[in-house]
Amino acid sequence: MRARLPYLASLGVDAVWLSPIHPSPNVDWGYDVADYLDVHDDYGSLADADALIADARRLGLDVWLDLVPNHTSDRHPWFADRPEYYVWSDQVPNDWRSIFTGGSAWNWDARRKRYYLHQFAPQQPDLDWWSPDVREEFDRILRFWFDRGIRGVRIDVAHGIVKDRELRDGIEHMRNRPEVHDVFARWQRVASEYDPKPTLMGETYVSLDQMYGYWRHLDLVQNFAFVRAEFELEELRPIVEQTMAHLPPGRRPCWFGSNHDHSRMATRWAGGDEAVHRAALFLILTLPGVAILYQGDELGLEDGVVPPERILDLADPPRDPERTPLPWTRSGEEWRDPWLPLDNTERNVEGQEGDADSILEYTRGLLRERARFTDDGYRTLPSATGVWAYARGGRTCVLNLTEDVAGHEGLVLQPWEGRII
Ligand code: NOJ
Repeated sequence: MRARLPYLASLGVDAVWLSPIHPSPNVDWGYDVADYLDVHDDYGSLADADALIADARRLGLDVWLDLVPNHTSDRHPWFADRPEYYVWSDQVPNDWRSIFTGGSAWNWDARRKRYYLHQFAPQQPDLDWWSPDVREEFDRILRFWFDRGIRGVRIDVAHGIVKDRELRDGIEHMRNRPEVHDVFARWQRVASEYDPKPTLMGETYVSLDQMYGYWRHLDLVQNFAFVRAEFELEELRPIVEQTMAHLPPGRRPCWFGSNHDHSRMATRWAGGDEAVHRAALFLILTLPGVAILYQGDELGLEDGVVPPERILDLADPPRDPERTPLPWTRSGEEWRDPWLPLDNTERNVEGQEGDADSILEYTRGLLRERARFTDDGYRTLPSATGVWAYARGGRTCVLNLTEDVAGHEGLVLQPWEGRII
């Protein structure tokens, strides 16, 4: 990872968000944490993390961690030693269902002779965020990493960590509870002890209407309405307009098209079509606020093909196709024993580096333009059908979201072409 930091810096990004790095049985790709205060052996040691943070800092990059506060691994020592940190019930108390198994979210624990809650896999027991001790543990965890120089956290299942205290029926009592904001207010106080203040970004897997409230105490709120939309003007533009209309002063929106839980945008949005993928990059990188690129987006990397015997993920359908390695070279020899197969190296870093016509150089060019935008406002401008025009950063962005040649104020736009004027 340290060796690849110069590549990230050369892209022109500001920060790198790591997927979970902690010791974990990896039932859920590290989202089942067995120790929040250490690094998984596969990745190295705490000293390696420190060195990574220091190298990144020298290159002008911040390192962000993926923090998983909703649940731990059932192998976390707390599950044995501090059972009061978790959510228990003598009977199955409600109709809550596990996202992974589809069955009841309650699992019988033979040792305690009680049921514990797991929104995700049975090996991921949910923490009880009504417990003051749990809150204090996480204050310590945050300080531990902020002290080491971590400049931001992506908060896993941010909308779901506090459950209804009475465990009432209904999904609305398992997730998106109003009390969750108290936790983030508290974390803002912890973050404010540091200068610069680390960024709190929520994985807010909620509808657009529900998303706005999370801006109260989170710096960044991930926009899942956007990522889940079809790549069509009629779907995306209203989402952007509504998001901007609700944005409180001092907050920034946050856009992305791919992550480790969703088919990569080169596949899902573009269906492998390079021009459509470039249009998606154009949009994400010219909208105001914060843009997140997932590894390989900058190359047009599509989902990998993972044969059934190599599937690791417990979700159905498995998320492995979007988790395959990033090809650095055409031969792929840099990956000796990757966690998932590397089946297609056609779009790779080495092959695109320095090629002015490549998606990689297109992405770099957009990031350079983006850095020159003068403000973070957004205004939809009148345009022809299928063309999205907006004022942004003192410039005008126009994007043709059709398969036909289109026009905008004398400009001729090729199918899917974006222009900053
Ligand atoms: C969201 C993460 O992004 C996903 O990968 C994980 O399976 C669940 N949260 C549970 O932690």
